[in-house]
Amino acid sequence: MLSNSIEARDIASQVHSYVDLAALEEAGPLVMTRGEGVYVIDNNGKRYLDGMAGLWSAALGFNEERLAAAAVRQFKRMPFYHNFFGRTPDVTVELAEKLQSITPESVKRVYFANSGSEANDLAIKLVWYYNNAIGRPEKKRIISRVGGYHGITVATASLTRIPVNQKGFDLPIDRVLFADCPHHYFFARSGESEEAFAGRLAEDLERMILEEGPETIAAFIAEPVMAAGGVIVPPATYFERIQAVLKKYDVLFLCDEVVCGFGRTGNPFGADTFGISPDMMSLAKALSASHAPISALMISEEIYQAIKRYSGQIGMFGHGSTYSGHPVSAAVALETLRIYEADRIPDHVRTIAPHFMMRLNAMASHSLVGEARGVGLLGAVELVADKAEKATFDPTLKVGPRANAIAQELGLILRARGDALTICPPLIISESEIDELFDKLWSALERLTSELH
Ligand SMILES: Cc1ncc(COP(=O)(O)O)c(C=O)c1O
Repeated sequence: MLSNSIEARDIASQVHSYVDLAALEEAGPLVMTRGEGVYVIDNNGKRYLDGMAGLWSAALGFNEERLAAAAVRQFKRMPFYHNFFGRTPDVTVELAEKLQSITPESVKRVYFANSGSEANDLAIKLVWYYNNAIGRPEKKRIISRVGGYHGITVATASLTRIPVNQKGFDLPIDRVLFADCPHHYFFARSGESEEAFAGRLAEDLERMILEEGPETIAAFIAEPVMAAGGVIVPPATYFERIQAVLKKYDVLFLCDEVVCGFGRTGNPFGADTFGISPDMMSLAKALSASHAPISALMISEEIYQAIKRYSGQIGMFGHGSTYSGHPVSAAVALETLRIYEADRIPDHVRTIAPHFMMRLNAMASHSLVGEARGVGLLGAVELVADKAEKATFDPTLKVGPRANAIAQELGLILRARGDALTICPPLIISESEIDELFDKLWSALERLTSELH
């Protein structure tokens, strides 16, 4: 690294996310400068197929001109206004109505925020506010799941049951409980069907609620498909069984659609794919195709009416942040949703997903791949030391990160979660780009195989 290079300047100035900071100082960052469709290009001109759509998010790729134009138009017309004190930018109202027209029946009222974490953080606050509003001050605890990812604020990182997100940060806070991870491949008993596994998880959840006291359990939060936890597709009947338990004990369902929303699983929302009827639903990422920071929390009419009454008793709804419903982000999100419709992105996903799944499933024939799993345009391959025994690698070998690094050398960006490699390309990906993605992944695993020998 030359001392005046952008890499050296970065190391001297920025704190990065999700890295070993000392190791990064040695290795240096990867500096991205441009995007072209599903590709990103670094400052040395090297092209990468971004098989993760950035962070599960750049649904329309990396240079959508119509979104740039929408942002510029809004910047010129009204670059900022807020939603405090009964005011609002007009474009934010248009976006709210647009969301109302596409979200599930049970969640039609929207509050805008800036990130998935913030939307989920508000969900937690509203669970508490709502239960205070309806005279249930004891009913406050939230059940999340091992492997779930819901954000990085103090409260949402407490729901994020991934060790690095809690270790060292004095988390989780209290009021949080954890149900088991629904990963059939690793956690089902020998010979246990998906349905039997789902039934057992639902029984365990019911037992937990009864032991802890149903009068203390307010909500259950889940991603339809756990994303950062390694793309864990729920076993058949899982959400049906879980929802029956939640209903029985009057526990709200918070559906985290931050990754699954807007077509990722082959339907508008993960809730549609898995038959979930949420009480609250968080949206972010693909809401603006990641071209501008914005998120949304959709809530039920029943919750809205209760918090409306309660805000009157208190004097106001004491929540808000400067950029809630920011007009430029709202304009970009509105244009994103229009593009999804105009370009028939959901149809494209439905058409292309079988090819994606065919290539993904074919990865299971590789000697390192214990499981290939996915739905829609979301997938993962789990690397194992012994396929027959489902034996995992010694973690010190860092097999997943090594595979990920080799893929990057070959011009493919993925993400390692332990020894699983996750795949979540832009929704606009073509069949030939899917082929390129899996050809490169196969080559990366071949190279890793020879390194391991
Ligand atoms: C399912 C899920 N929820 C919430 C978040 C947090 O979103 P953000 O990074 O925008 O705060 C993420 C981020 O990856 C996510 O995957």
